[in-house]
Amino acid sequence: MLTITDPSDMRVWSNRAASTGRTIGFVPTMGALHEGHLALIAEAAERCDAVVVSIFVNPLQFNETTDFDSYPRPIDDDIAVCSAAGVSAVYAPTARAMYPEGFQTRVVPGALADRMEGPGRPGHFEGVVTVVAKLFGAVRPDAAIFGQKDFQQLAIVTAMAADLDMGIEIVGHPIVREPDGLAMSSRNVRLTPTQRSAAVCVPRSLDAAISAAGHVDATAGSVTGAAAQVIAAEPLARLEYSTVFDADTLEEFNSDDSLRQSGADRVLRIATAVWFDDVRLIDNRPLAE
Ligand code: PAJ
Repeated sequence: MLTITDPSDMRVWSNRAASTGRTIGFVPTMGALHEGHLALIAEAAERCDAVVVSIFVNPLQFNETTDFDSYPRPIDDDIAVCSAAGVSAVYAPTARAMYPEGFQTRVVPGALADRMEGPGRPGHFEGVVTVVAKLFGAVRPDAAIFGQKDFQQLAIVTAMAADLDMGIEIVGHPIVREPDGLAMSSRNVRLTPTQRSAAVCVPRSLDAAISAAGHVDATAGSVTGAAAQVIAAEPLARLEYSTVFDADTLEEFNSDDSLRQSGADRVLRIATAVWFDDVRLIDNRPLAE
């Protein structure tokens, strides 16, 4: 397995792979790899001949310096994990190679980025699509795999690839969970053991929301209210939001909107963000499974 740190070296490698007729499956990550990332790598390997994993903690998409500084960076372990998973190349560019002096261009996402996570994290999705566009430019994949864990990110990247005629298939992969239901995340290692036990309230709040959605007179408010009650019962957790939204448009429901009258062909999901001290966890699930 090769580790490549420079965008032009990455392009040379990819062009060579393409010229020998191999398709490239790409998994962009910020490292601290876990089973969730490995599931995306396995999906890429099923779809394509060669798999490239990028590892880059992207300063452009962080709202808080402390979150950026404390983001785990076990690069040697990550490279070993990729090698064991049969990855062909790891692309781990330096910040200087990605954003050299004079770097000035940004990709601006559309309305999908103004909803849900958007207002609370100004510039976040612009940072995400800018780095993803750069990674796509260096790796030139046929397909790229993203997790439904970051559901809004997946939707925004799908729109970017289509809108900018990138010719890259964007594939969404289901959320991989710990045995107790907590969605796997690189940020989970920042939880203390007590916070980690408490964090099970996040998937449980989504269970409660899904049960509430089964009632005939369910409204978006009754569903998010059921989720909020579970989080409120956990003293270590602080709810930022829980919201019912349309999986295609990311349009959020108002509290008194009835779920039944929302239209039979709409796929609804619930998403939530919950804080444990300074660690922010996100999760989402379809309301009908
Ligand atoms: P990161 O948080 O490292 O996630 C990399 C990919 O793994 C994303 O597509 C994310 O949705 C997916 N992922 C994370 N946890 C998952 C889980 N439990 N189940 C399934 N998939 C999961 O998302 C990013 O990095 C960055 O924003 C990035 C796209 C790399 C741009 O910097």
